[in-house]
Amino acid sequence: EQPQTFRIAAVPADGVGIEVVEAGRAVLEAIAGAASGRFAFAWQDFPWGSEYYANHGRMMAEDGLDQLKDFDAIYFGAVGWPTVPDHVSLWGLRLKICQSFDQWANIRPVEFLPGIQSPLRKADTTDLNWVVVRENSEGEYAGFGGRNFAGRGPGGEVAVQSAVFTEAGCERIIRFAFDLARGRAHKKVSSVTKSNAQQYGMVLWDDVFARVATDYPDVETESVLVDAMSAKFVLRPEDLSVVVASNLNADILSDLGSALAGSLGLAASANLNPERRFPSMFEPVHGSAPDIAGQGVCNPVGAIGSAALMLDHFGLHDEAKRVHRAIEATTGSGIRTRDVGGTATTREVTAAIIDNLAG
Ligand code: NAI
Ligand code: MG
Repeated sequence: EQPQTFRIAAVPADGVGIEVVEAGRAVLEAIAGAASGRFAFAWQDFPWGSEYYANHGRMMAEDGLDQLKDFDAIYFGAVGWPTVPDHVSLWGLRLKICQSFDQWANIRPVEFLPGIQSPLRKADTTDLNWVVVRENSEGEYAGFGGRNFAGRGPGGEVAVQSAVFTEAGCERIIRFAFDLARGRAHKKVSSVTKSNAQQYGMVLWDDVFARVATDYPDVETESVLVDAMSAKFVLRPEDLSVVVASNLNADILSDLGSALAGSLGLAASANLNPERRFPSMFEPVHGSAPDIAGQGVCNPVGAIGSAALMLDHFGLHDEAKRVHRAIEATTGSGIRTRDVGGTATTREVTAAIIDNLAG
């Protein structure tokens, strides 16, 4: 019997993205190696990012989306480097892929790992974990607006950055959040907006949330303003299970969540096209970390956790669980990078996780 082969496009891009994608690939190869030929991964590398920009004046090949569209998944590092304005690098690669491939659901688990100290005192005694579900196709990152209207130049410039909310866009992400909550021990969805101040788009979101909630009477709900939710992340995190929010708000909340769990380097993420018309993309939450890039000390756990989310997406649920257990065994045994208080290198942590896959 032919093994099932999953085709993965690797886009490490910039800075620590290159180091953590190498780490995640090594873990996935180890998983495939232990699968007794049941499945395999076929990789292709795409050298896009800020260096590519320096040579070609663009962040990815002109037909880059065409090159990616038939892969089973995209494994992404991080994009951004001081040589390219951040809005150019982000829109030219990561946001371009997310938006063009309609990866409208961005899943960002917040997990507290053994052996890693959280700044939350509660984390010592309370079992904490929740998932941020981020609307990933519209909202504040719709790219809608303009600058320099009516010939206004320097000194008198005007810029408009509009958030775009559609009923269909709100509904699909909110339903996704409810479906996810149904599979969790704590069946609850917290919806986050700022609808007291943003009275059009976010009130539409609130209305859709209230309507969809009636289809899920078994799931507990709450609507919380984003400023209050940021306080709740710190003060009452045990009350959270699935947190659904717009593009910008969920982006901010997921960094807060990962910092509470101990480090930005720990947090995993999946950009899903749930209809599977296009490849989904798996990436750590963090950016390219220019301050520590190239030193071999960045934390690979976020990227490796993202690889586990990719295994889940492929239906390889047992393998995904094995990766999670191996991460826990590794942090629990004290093998940690320095952002979480250890002294191990990226490669040492990766090697330990691979060793622990067997256990
Ligand atoms: P960042 O996430 O790269 O770094 C923030 C802080 O977290 C830094 O102190 C960094 O050292 C630390 N950190 C990040 N990842 C780490 C890891 N794996 N291990 C240990 N420590 C880690 O965010 P920053 O500095 O705001 O942005 C740097 C660049 O990354 C910018 O060009 C930005 O536009 C880009 N960026 C890209 C993202 C993406 O591609 N998805 C997401 C966020 C930022
Ligand atoms: Mg972010």
